[in-house]
Amino acid sequence: MTLPDLRHRFPGLSDGWVRLDGPAGTLPVDTAIEAMYAYLRSSAPANEGGRFDASIRTTAMVDDVRAAVGAFFGACGSQVIFGASATALMFAYTRALARTWNGHERIICTQLDHDSNVTPWVTAAADAGAKVTSVPVDPADGSLDLADLERALSGPKVAWVALCGASNLTGFAPDLPVAAEMVHRAGARLHVDAVARAPHLPVDVNGWAIDSLVTSPYKWYGPHAGVLVLQPELLNGVEPFRVRPADYNGPSRWETGTKAFEVIAGIGGATAFMAEHSWASVTSSETALLERLETGLRAITGVTVHGPVSANGRAPTTIFNVDQRAPEWVAGALAERRIAVWSGDNYACELIDALGLRARGGAVRAGIVRHTTNDDIDALLTALAAIVANL
Ligand SMILES: Cc1ncc(COP(=O)(O)O)c(C=O)c1O
Repeated sequence: MTLPDLRHRFPGLSDGWVRLDGPAGTLPVDTAIEAMYAYLRSSAPANEGGRFDASIRTTAMVDDVRAAVGAFFGACGSQVIFGASATALMFAYTRALARTWNGHERIICTQLDHDSNVTPWVTAAADAGAKVTSVPVDPADGSLDLADLERALSGPKVAWVALCGASNLTGFAPDLPVAAEMVHRAGARLHVDAVARAPHLPVDVNGWAIDSLVTSPYKWYGPHAGVLVLQPELLNGVEPFRVRPADYNGPSRWETGTKAFEVIAGIGGATAFMAEHSWASVTSSETALLERLETGLRAITGVTVHGPVSANGRAPTTIFNVDQRAPEWVAGALAERRIAVWSGDNYACELIDALGLRARGGAVRAGIVRHTTNDDIDALLTALAAIVANL
């Protein structure tokens, strides 16, 4: 079972560019665009919590989208918090957590993670006098062995482990249920950065007993925003930074200021799209495309693919380099051929360092999303082969 051709669902594809830049943000899907447009065109726009019709409709829309997002991630709507971005939510969340720390805590981060799941923890730990340790990756392919996490957990008691659900560079995806079990056995809590995982692989927050999780709807065909999902005891028990009148119970207590209601409407549209396809069909389509891409890249002399060799069990993202040319130059040469990819460290700074790619400017990154086709992959491979042949 594979995905149907979904290109007509993405108006942004009409300019003919080959879009392999998805790990940095996807084009919005029609249902997300239409939900935002419909909300803004309606008479519902108003602040929430009032007694008049528009406010009641806006409040109901927010509740409905919370429920849909919660259901998609294996949680309840009452656990879902909307924010500007995953990073903004992480700074607010970790700062609030740090107010409960007494300086004896240990926090574990990893070299696999985007800096959005490292620096907020490091900053909060510094504020509270807590200690941060980092789990290394295998420098050969950037994979993370959960045995190394277990070793890190074996010392003095750990308060939190911050782990990604997938790498935004290599797509490597740790086994989250196993990690959660390991973390809880050690008496610690697990925070998951699911930003690079959520578009491609399932997440079951409550089923896997994940304590907290972030995701960014703009990585799964929605508008630019972040979502934080918390277990109820954290959501209600930890005191967020907020102004005095904002004495709401539930997720609103974390959503400081007025919400971006039209963005929330769009998140609802994107969530509906995400739920249209089974994980089995998403995984088989995206894995086959990743295999085609990486096999093709490896066949070009002068191109080196970094990251795990197998395409199975990963987010469909790859990084590679071209001998004698900086990744940014390669991304520019591809852009001249109307192919969009990213280059550099893409904020996974410790992973790029561990892979030994810092001195050469990181790597070129290409990512597969639900609308990617064999033609997109072949366009990249043909263009890259021509670029390399002309060096
Ligand atoms: C794995 C990962 N985590 C966190 C982030 C940060 O997300 P946001 O842009 O919503 O702050 C990104 C963004 O690229 C990411 O790829």
